[in-house]
Amino acid sequence: MAGLTAFFAAFAGALLAILLAAPLPFLLLKPVFAWMVRRFVKLVMSEPYNENLWEMMTALQHHPPRIVVENALRASSPGVLERPFGSPVKRMDFSGLVFSPAQLSVLPAPESAHVDLRLTIGPAADKPLKLELPILAAGMAYGLGLGERVKIAIAKGTAAVGTATNSGEGPFLPEEREYARYYILQYHSGHWAKEPETLRQADAIEIRLGQGAIASAVGQIRPVSIEEKARHMLQLPDNQNLVLPSRHAEIKRPDDLAKLVDKLRNLTGGVPIGVKLAPGARLEEDLEHIVRAEVDFISLDGGEAGTKAGAPIMEDDFALPTIFALVRAVRFLRERGVKDRITLLSGGGYSTPGRCLKALALGADGIYMGTSLLWAMTHDQVLKAIPWEPPTQLTWGSGMLADRFDEEEAAGRLANFLTSFAEEMKMAVRCLGKTSLKELNADDLVALDEWTGKVTGVRLATEPYR
Ligand SMILES: Cc1cc2nc3c(=O)[nH]c(=O)nc-3n(C[C@H](O)[C@H](O)[C@H](O)COP(=O)(O)O)c2cc1C
Repeated sequence: MAGLTAFFAAFAGALLAILLAAPLPFLLLKPVFAWMVRRFVKLVMSEPYNENLWEMMTALQHHPPRIVVENALRASSPGVLERPFGSPVKRMDFSGLVFSPAQLSVLPAPESAHVDLRLTIGPAADKPLKLELPILAAGMAYGLGLGERVKIAIAKGTAAVGTATNSGEGPFLPEEREYARYYILQYHSGHWAKEPETLRQADAIEIRLGQGAIASAVGQIRPVSIEEKARHMLQLPDNQNLVLPSRHAEIKRPDDLAKLVDKLRNLTGGVPIGVKLAPGARLEEDLEHIVRAEVDFISLDGGEAGTKAGAPIMEDDFALPTIFALVRAVRFLRERGVKDRITLLSGGGYSTPGRCLKALALGADGIYMGTSLLWAMTHDQVLKAIPWEPPTQLTWGSGMLADRFDEEEAAGRLANFLTSFAEEMKMAVRCLGKTSLKELNADDLVALDEWTGKVTGVRLATEPYR
């Protein structure tokens, strides 16, 4: 008992000493800190501008920190700069549109109403691809971009909710095919993953002409950026870059696309064949060639799209923003009378259920997402990387933390994420007084400003409904 009392007395004494001593350093530091602040403010207010640290403030407003850092990176190495995840430049997006809630003249659908989110890609194909959800994982290359575990996690996560994943332009990864319920194989400009037995494993094939983030820029993938196993699969020597040409060897003239579509259709026994492209001023001309080639689907990847690494000039200064491209493509396909036969998938910058649903109301049939899926999947696994490394070191195939990526955990997160998107979209569809995505149209939206109204053809918020 006496021992216990002595212990508590010693403890209380120590605590009191700490409490009394703690402010001491602060009391000593306070005048030093105040002197430093005063000195700094005085210097800022009196030194000539060109000797004054304040010049950094105005200089960084003239050239924002991003530009200064990117130019510093250019100065440290003469190669083309490779920026992950697409352009930081903000373009017009879907935020100028709001949905029009069903209240009385149109009643909301009851909360118990089933909402149909299903999507059929290539309804006229011999083997149409039927999905439960119109949100798909965009093509993200195995080995050149993402690690094997990440690709498998995407395959498992998308399978769990009944949607498709896309191979991207890496080497064919059999495990990804095995775990994917619906697998879209990308037919790119490289020479790999094109054997007939590989192509026959696809549920759909996407001929990649370009991407929103990098248009058709040649891909020069350095040895350090390629996963070891992928390098072996590609039979690439250790010190050699992997080159993804800007053109397909088989497409020398626009008409050649039709021959390629035909070849792939025959070879696969009729799975949907599509084309992925970046939209530009000649979008309608490109689409005319694509429609004539009798494709089953079109993947239109807007300028806001992400990528593993792209040159800033390609990411910031090329390609129509997603909303412009989407509206023009929908209009073109309708006027051409093929909107019901050719499935339109829109990609580039989708990150919320609201944006996806607005695009679907404007006429997209399905949405491709890339970057958002990676953030959702990585979830709190980022804690394995930060604060010392960027989280992408977990996801890139060549990342130093790639073997710490937990594939099962990520697949579960992705399934949650996609399910949450679906539930939010269903809630919104009911509030439009509808029960199926097929019932949505531009009439469900209102434009908040004239420019958005002009771009999208959606009624202005200032106009009465007629
Ligand atoms: C890590 C990563 C790898 C990608 N790899 C490919 C690829 O191999 N082929 C391709 O056509 N697009 C690729 N993309 C682009 C996506 O397919 C898609 O167009 C883009 O992610 C959509 O924009 P979002 O990221 O804003 O959703 C990649 C994107 C990311 C983020």
